[in-house]
Amino acid sequence: MNVPLCKIADIIYVRFELVELEAQKKYLNHFGMMLAHEDDNSIYFRGTGTSPYIYVATKGKENKYIGSAYKANNFSDLEALSKEFDVDIVENNEPGGGHKVTVIDPDGIRVEVCHGMKEAEPIAVVSKVLNTGQSKQRENELQRFGKAADEWQVHGDKWVYELSSKVKRLGHTAINCKDAQASVDWYSNVLGFLISNNCIGPDGSSMGAFMRCDQGDKPVDHHTMNNMGLPGEGGALAYGHAGYEVQDSIDDLMAGHYHMKTVDEYYHEWGIGRHLLGSQMYDYWRDPHGFTHEHWTDGDLMDASIPTENSGFRDLAMAQYGPEVPSTFGITMPVDQIDKARATHPTIPGMIKEMEMAAKAEIEEQS
Ligand SMILES: [Fe+2]
Repeated sequence: MNVPLCKIADIIYVRFELVELEAQKKYLNHFGMMLAHEDDNSIYFRGTGTSPYIYVATKGKENKYIGSAYKANNFSDLEALSKEFDVDIVENNEPGGGHKVTVIDPDGIRVEVCHGMKEAEPIAVVSKVLNTGQSKQRENELQRFGKAADEWQVHGDKWVYELSSKVKRLGHTAINCKDAQASVDWYSNVLGFLISNNCIGPDGSSMGAFMRCDQGDKPVDHHTMNNMGLPGEGGALAYGHAGYEVQDSIDDLMAGHYHMKTVDEYYHEWGIGRHLLGSQMYDYWRDPHGFTHEHWTDGDLMDASIPTENSGFRDLAMAQYGPEVPSTFGITMPVDQIDKARATHPTIPGMIKEMEMAAKAEIEEQS
């Protein structure tokens, strides 16, 4: 592998352009983020963690994903990128300040690399202690979430569970690439990403990868990016989803699920389940513009010593448990087109079943 230009530390925020911001503000509040800053043209939402914001949207002519921002450990990383791509290091004039360099990836996605951004004061959330069959850590203390049964309130003519998830931080993005290998190589060579899982397609070729930051012996999220080659995608349709870690484990994710479900205004994309690659519990919700956002918790952490694993289509799509992955998963589309797309596209588990049955028949024929 080439020596990368830099080794970014983490992802900070995703950036969108939207025609209208009010509906998105409402969605993000329900999703469990907090408005950190707004002006006439932009909204900045944060989690309970130290990033001053994790989601930015600016008013524009169309609804589109612009790109993502990453944290550099050193100012010299910005200098290396500036020299290689012949772009200026500029002062960040958005909240948080510091400096940044902006480059464009092979799929036209904007990549902002930031240094010196002022951290936000984290918002304290008390973690719950869970009793399990094996370990009883909580005694003489009742387990209560929010206002307990009083979280259920009648809104109009329906019961709404008012306690939302508490999003802590942005953990990763998934992108759809015109050429997955070119994208994987670019993020490895430019930002120092390591490959956690190389995803092998039915024909034996690589379909893409789950990639993590290289921070040496410091454990990091199993994936900060998931770069997949989807035919006909890339460019404006490059956005797959963004995954946000919730503050406090499984109940935090479950509360958010019932909040979004009972608010009854948003399209539930996929979940609740437990991924295999990255191991996190997941729950995916579409925003009003059709972009998918994930609540996740309990993901794998690994340092740079863990070697790349090759993983098949089954590992990618079937999860460890949970409902079947929908055929629309990972594809950005207007919400009112999703049901029709699901009805007319073959399901992914259906495709896996066909492939595995064909492979089995071939082996039986040969023996
Ligand atoms: Fe994800």
